[in-house]
Amino acid sequence: MIKNIGFFDTKPYDKVWFDRLKDKYRFEFKYFESKLNGDTAMMCSGLDGVVAFVNDVIDKKTIDVLNGFGIKILALRCAGYNNVDFKAAFDKIHVVRVPAYSPHAVAEHAMALILTLNRKIHRAYIRTRDFNFSINGFTGFDLYGKTMGIIGTGKIGRVFADICKGFGMKVIAHDPFPAKDSGIEYVGLDELFKQSDIISLHAPLTRDTYHIIDRDAIGIMKDGAYIVNTSRGALVDSEALLEAIKDGKIGGACLDVYEEESDIFYEDYSNVVIKDDILARLISMPNVIVTSHQAFLTDEALKNIAETTLENLKEFFDGKGLTNEICYRCAKYGNCTKKDNERCF
Ligand code: NAI
Repeated sequence: MIKNIGFFDTKPYDKVWFDRLKDKYRFEFKYFESKLNGDTAMMCSGLDGVVAFVNDVIDKKTIDVLNGFGIKILALRCAGYNNVDFKAAFDKIHVVRVPAYSPHAVAEHAMALILTLNRKIHRAYIRTRDFNFSINGFTGFDLYGKTMGIIGTGKIGRVFADICKGFGMKVIAHDPFPAKDSGIEYVGLDELFKQSDIISLHAPLTRDTYHIIDRDAIGIMKDGAYIVNTSRGALVDSEALLEAIKDGKIGGACLDVYEEESDIFYEDYSNVVIKDDILARLISMPNVIVTSHQAFLTDEALKNIAETTLENLKEFFDGKGLTNEICYRCAKYGNCTKKDNERCF
């Protein structure tokens, strides 16, 4: 039987690969532009499954509405899952995700941001378009020989470490679960803050990583250090970051994510006065680069996201074990009893 799948927060680039792969599966797609939340979940009547994204609100209310429509599968087309209330979902809706789609996409974007910020490419581009060929104010520094501090050395952090080594940088890292045989030098968090010229975040958003970059952390960093965040916005206390950039303590920031991004990123506000003063002020700084949660956006990543999401859904409808299922026991405590070819409940 054909299964009806609803996609939330859909953008044109999302549809490309899902539509291209659709014929392999017995699915009908319904694309919604709105984000999934307790109210928009009302549109899911008649659907068999739902596909959600990073800024959808999958709280108890959303889950109860979906459950009321008999929907038992929610497929995240992303790796992060901090927007899901797993306790509310347990025993009601299976949540699957795409654990890896292209660590290269994100790691390469992080380095692109650093190179842009350091060598002032964003400003040079605007000057030369105006036939202003002055290079005053564009002095950067060699990455070669500088210290990169990486917080989180999972799939993305390790690819990023290799890229940094390619530039001749010294790499140090902090991770409660160090990668074995990676050759990475692990240090305590304070030591990483003290030693690094650039700090790049590649850890998930958890209770432990929330505001891992706060006033205290910034206080012990090198003067002029750069902060790079391509993980989740709330790892950085943006008010503290803004103050530190104004003071000159922090030399620059590259932000692909922002803690209050959910109502702003992915939308066109070019005709509207932005209400978020912190974001507006950060964007106005010559030494801050903000991209709109686009680090993942490569053809390879989009293809992998579509393939894994559709396979995740197929496993569910075929009654099989769910390879990429995640529940509160896996997510929070790491003690899920699920075995290969099984489901979390
Ligand atoms: P991963 O799960 O492979 O690695 C995460 C690493 O962070 C693990 O090694 C883990 O031990 C470590 N970690 C956990 N708590 C930590 C802590 N308190 N301090 C330091 N390290 C800690 O995840 P992956 O694929 O490398 O992704 C990392 C993050 O990147 C994701 O959680 C997601 O938030 C973000 N991401 C952003 C994207 C974007 O487009 N900007 C796209 C994909 C992921």
